[in-house]
Amino acid sequence: MKNFYLENYGCQMNKADSNSLINSLMQEGFIQTEDYQNADNIIINTCSVRAHAEERVFSKVKLFNAERKKNKKNTKLIIMGCMAQTSKNILENLGVDKIFDVYNETNILDYMKDEEVFIKKFNDNYIFNKSYVDKDKPHKAFLPISHGCNNWCSYCIVPHTRGKMVSRKSSEIIEEVKRLIESGAKEITLLGQNVNSYGLDIENEISFTDLLYLIDKTIDKTVGNNKIWIRFLTSHPKDFDKDLADAIWNLRSVGKHIHLPFQSGSNRILKLMNRKYDKEEYIKKISYLREYADDFPISTDIIVGYADETEEEYKETLDLLKEIGFEDAYLYKYSEREGSIAYKKKVKYDEKVGSERLRELVDFQRVLAQKLLNKQVGKRSEIMIDDTAKDNIHYQCRSKENRLILVKKEKELNMGDIYDCEITEIKNHTLIGEII
Ligand code: SAH
Ligand code: SF4
Ligand code: F3S
Repeated sequence: MKNFYLENYGCQMNKADSNSLINSLMQEGFIQTEDYQNADNIIINTCSVRAHAEERVFSKVKLFNAERKKNKKNTKLIIMGCMAQTSKNILENLGVDKIFDVYNETNILDYMKDEEVFIKKFNDNYIFNKSYVDKDKPHKAFLPISHGCNNWCSYCIVPHTRGKMVSRKSSEIIEEVKRLIESGAKEITLLGQNVNSYGLDIENEISFTDLLYLIDKTIDKTVGNNKIWIRFLTSHPKDFDKDLADAIWNLRSVGKHIHLPFQSGSNRILKLMNRKYDKEEYIKKISYLREYADDFPISTDIIVGYADETEEEYKETLDLLKEIGFEDAYLYKYSEREGSIAYKKKVKYDEKVGSERLRELVDFQRVLAQKLLNKQVGKRSEIMIDDTAKDNIHYQCRSKENRLILVKKEKELNMGDIYDCEITEIKNHTLIGEII
């Protein structure tokens, strides 16, 4: 029986692709191993979004290559994911066996089953893979609803690696939702580089907001919509509107949280990033949600040091962080990506300034997030049991608002079960709650 070792890098989309491939390989009789030294196949699902992600893969490729030469095993080294587009030559020179530049699982399967009969066929029509519940946390599932991206943010490589946006048919999404629920999923995360523009590429397809209504109705009819939660990633501020805010708030199954990257607090930088919204518009859109709850949790992504960002412009980002208040923020310094619009236009940046600002930003945001979290003590929320905490005396849970909450492990509870909880204290920066 042949086995495979798989390493995954990058976004949730890559995780979903890897999860789907793992399931298909196992159905074909392959066995997954954690021991790469004795693997027949090593697969790396790669990410190109920042230089750091690529560097990690290069060093892994070198390591695996040296290892398979030493072991004299006929191990296949296979690359998939975004670096297949951006770093094909380097990877080929490093001596990998096969690079899959299309996200087509059947290609990889055919190749691994029998290299001889494998005919590489470039597939223009993107095929969505079946989704499966998460291997380690089977109450969770990730469901891609669109692939690729049409936004062309100037700094970003994703439109180049994943291609134009292709939406999945809503009828197919509903079938997948039903199938995942049957397989035991209690929390389904809809995935897309920009879920808000879902459906715009298909004639007569429903909008993302209507898709949420449809999924909520489907859940209600199958199991009751207080038993399954829906989340989604990522939203783009330019396509976020009042209707969507209302749906998030009113639909019982939808998590009361949004990840809405603003990238920069400076309108000049936003324009150069080709983000198609300005600071004022972002603030206005946030108010649609904060009108419902003044502590409505929002997370975001930020890039510092882009396009010779001035000290003032950087301060505008700090001010926006403070004004809005994000419980979570993913902070990056600009990393130039060959092939991106910014690269072609030779957009200027200073690596050192970026590093300094990033360091400062991390501390700045940590203090803000802590203050927001402190305000949660005494409040109530629905929570889903997610995992056993590292200390083994708590359960790790997520509230409907996506906050991490630990509750005492007094008796055995099932993963994916939902309870009402009161937040009683904060310990080591983490919320602690009690089930009521
Ligand atoms: N489609 C999503 C996610 C894109 S990648 C979205 O638009 O939000 C996730 C984050 O990585 C981005 O939001 C951005 O903050 C960051 N990022 C993307 N390209 C980058 C680059 N070249 N340098 C630094 N950060 C980058
Ligand atoms: Fe990249 Fe922008 Fe598309 Fe996100 S929306 S994937 S940042 S181009
Ligand atoms: Fe990385 Fe590709 Fe995702 S570049 S962030 S794996 S779309």
